[in-house]
Amino acid sequence: MLTIALSKGRILDDTLPLLAEAGIVPIENPDKSRKLIIPTSQEDVRLLIVRATDVPTYVENGAADLGVAGKDVLMEYGGQGLYEPLDLKIANCKLMTAGKVGAEAPSGRLRVATKFVSVAKRYYAEQGRQVDIIKLYGSMELAPLVGLADKIIDVVDTGNTLRANGLEPQELIATISSRLIVNKASMKMQHARIQALIDTLREAVESRH
Ligand code: ADP
Ligand code: PRP
Ligand code: MG
Repeated sequence: MLTIALSKGRILDDTLPLLAEAGIVPIENPDKSRKLIIPTSQEDVRLLIVRATDVPTYVENGAADLGVAGKDVLMEYGGQGLYEPLDLKIANCKLMTAGKVGAEAPSGRLRVATKFVSVAKRYYAEQGRQVDIIKLYGSMELAPLVGLADKIIDVVDTGNTLRANGLEPQELIATISSRLIVNKASMKMQHARIQALIDTLREAVESRH
């Protein structure tokens, strides 16, 4: 059995066409189904539907053999416990700092609201800047508007969300796309199978770019 962990939304939507090129098609529509384990057209391949930030956890611990996760999520997750053999070039965006348009630097310590706490700590530590990190789980753009923080760190694509809230993108931390990740033991135990799938997916990605 090959188990692939995916998250609903853009990762699922953008990964299913790639999996289809490898002949892997879910038996029911995962976006509509309430089921969290979805069988596929290949009897020995199944999908797990998990939260985007949980994909690395399932894969590192072997609950899934493979998964698809944003580079932002992988940077935040950290560690060396996973293989990351393929950039799928989907869910492309940028991890950035952002703040209120025209805002002046605060007199005290900079307060940064984000769900990417580890990335934020690393980013400011590398610059030797002392900051207070405020952990949020979503709607980061709100924090500077109501005085919770001076800046945010979040992913930006079109910039529409920032603009709609009077914020502007500032520093680029990383360009982001989603990656295929593989459990290390699975890669050894099911090497031929997984390598064949990686090769097929790589061809599918390359044929689009
Ligand atoms: P979540 O529920 O954690 O917000 P998403 O499906 O929104 O999950 O995001 C999954 C991944 O897609 C993120 O880890 C990031 O890499 C990427 N992503 C997030 N927002 C955008 C966006 N607006 N445009 C393109 N890619 C995005
Ligand atoms: C993401 C991200 C930003 C927005 C950026 O949110 O957290 O808010 O997209 O995209 P933009 O630059 O094109 O506006 P998402 O749509 O994933 O909503 P979420 O709060 O459900 O994660
Ligand atoms: Mg999101």
